[in-house]
Amino acid sequence: MLIHKNMKLSEVVHHDHTLVPIINRFGIHLGFGDNTITEICQKHGLNVDFFVTILNAFHDIHYFPKEQLRNFSVALLIDYLQKAHRSFLEEKIPEISLLIKNMTEKCPLDVVTSQLITNFFKEYTEELKKHIRQEEETIYPYVLLLEKVNQNLPVDEGASGKINHYSISAYKAEHEDVEEKLFDLKNILIKYLPGQKNDKPVYQLLRELFSLEKDLNEHARIEDMILIPKVEAMEKTLRNKNPNGPV
Ligand SMILES: [Fe+2]
Ligand SMILES: [Fe+2]
Repeated sequence: MLIHKNMKLSEVVHHDHTLVPIINRFGIHLGFGDNTITEICQKHGLNVDFFVTILNAFHDIHYFPKEQLRNFSVALLIDYLQKAHRSFLEEKIPEISLLIKNMTEKCPLDVVTSQLITNFFKEYTEELKKHIRQEEETIYPYVLLLEKVNQNLPVDEGASGKINHYSISAYKAEHEDVEEKLFDLKNILIKYLPGQKNDKPVYQLLRELFSLEKDLNEHARIEDMILIPKVEAMEKTLRNKNPNGPV
């Protein structure tokens, strides 16, 4: 199903309930009535095309209107990506930690297995935090600055130095798939959990791990396929304006 702006948001959620957390990220909450997506976006002062594009990208892995997404401002894109970061760190990770605690209490797991799972997720959380910190402290500020310079907007003193000494190619080369590492944890639960009599707490945990993985995957696709090409295009424009500069 292709989601379009004249659809009722309630119908969209009937079709794909996993979109609810994504919708929440835009500050929209359940209780949509019969309002269409356009009406709801107008009420919340949101860019309806951007909202619909993000819903479609999340709903269907094969949907990716690169050109359309490239027309949205970098500021809009980064605002969404930062909201997703908040949701990973403030909602999803604590929820999964709680499910791990619940599982180790309710299932008769041996101490070694319980510790293994708990520590694995702790380490994973630290890696995810580091990844997000690097993007928010280094990459996103650089990208926002680049957009300002490209639009000839006033920037702080020293901004051109920052731009001259950085290139998005470094981020492109290092940008890791944080979702891939969740596979090992899922694998322990699916293949190697000993003496299971009650699968329910394990299944609840697995469901959330799959959901986080999907969310991280969509997030990384936006960073890799939309943000990076957009930044490369801006760097190229600047280089053409100033062929002797190091950008
Ligand atoms: Fe990110
Ligand atoms: Fe990332």
